[in-house]
Amino acid sequence: MPTSLEMRCRSLLDELGLLPSDASLSAAPLSGGVASDIARVAVGDQLYCVKFALPKLRVAADWFAPVERNFAEYSWLQTVASIAPENAVHLYGHSGQAHGFVMEFLAGKDTYLLKTEMLAGRGQESEAAAIGGLLARIHAASTVPGFDASPFANQTDFHAIRIEPYLVHTATKHTDLAPMIHDMADALFTADNVLIHGDVSPKNIMFRGTHPFMLDAECATMGDACFDLAFCLNHFILKAVHVPARRADYLTFCSTLWRAYAPQITWEDAAGLEARLCRLLPMLMLARVDGKSPVEYLNDPNRDLVVSISSPLIRNPVPALSQLVEIIEQYLGSS
Ligand SMILES: Nc1ncnc2c1ncn2[C@@H]1O[C@H](COP(=O)(O)OP(=O)(O)O)[C@@H](O)[C@H]1O
Ligand SMILES: [Mg+2]
Repeated sequence: MPTSLEMRCRSLLDELGLLPSDASLSAAPLSGGVASDIARVAVGDQLYCVKFALPKLRVAADWFAPVERNFAEYSWLQTVASIAPENAVHLYGHSGQAHGFVMEFLAGKDTYLLKTEMLAGRGQESEAAAIGGLLARIHAASTVPGFDASPFANQTDFHAIRIEPYLVHTATKHTDLAPMIHDMADALFTADNVLIHGDVSPKNIMFRGTHPFMLDAECATMGDACFDLAFCLNHFILKAVHVPARRADYLTFCSTLWRAYAPQITWEDAAGLEARLCRLLPMLMLARVDGKSPVEYLNDPNRDLVVSISSPLIRNPVPALSQLVEIIEQYLGSS
């Protein structure tokens, strides 16, 4: 018999010693998640956020992902707490048996989810800069000698939940672009020099005041920094396509994020990373139309637009982000 979310939360909090015997508990599921059961849990007047990994994701295509990724996520959050404590949720414990963990519930009048703000046309450039700065800090810290990469040898999971559904699957629908996409997929799979989050998207970034909190790190692995950058910039571009009134601003967010990030690149040549970012970004754009996880808010004409912008950029990549943004701007301006 399936166990209710509330019972699972109760059992996890009990296992972690967070449930006084006389305490009342209530759990309310949080919306938005496709990969997990996640809930706001109140124990007396103490609030928690409890998250369990789902074995099969709630998307249209069959997409199974190992539940151990819940530990990768917890480890990533712990690592960020040591690198950037002001950008990290408080953690209360993880259970390997339940594939669940407990963290602080972010709340308050100055707390918001970036996706909600951007789709409502209220995204701000300072948010893009804050994300770029934070991402670079985390990436850079993971390349310093002595960094403990042992919880993040997750390339196989990363292949299953990122490389296959976004790149390999998309290549089957665009056979002319498949060689370029496969080259990138292979390179991403073998890279292991930087700790990446793997799902840097406005739906996984909350702000409290001026501080970004990156959540949902279940794809975390040692990998290539260009993945996190391209993944996030792709979301800015798709939102620029979707919200015409903020089109120019949201495209500018790409350059703003990169400007905040680039000065902190210590582990490799910045131009090389930028060139990989510019190759991967149009592939991810295409993947959000024809991959296993299509973006839900684009209408048909905008989906077609994304395919026509991204395909030539995959075929003939440009080396600089400013060029790429300019090309996209021209396309959108003439659409
Ligand atoms: N610690 C938290 N505090 C408050 N809200 C949260 C917290 N973690 C996640 N959320 C909310 O729940 C949603 C889903 O959480 P997420 O970790 O992204 O799950 P999934 O893996 O299912 O996408 C987020 O988009 C956010 O709105
Ligand atoms: Mg999420």
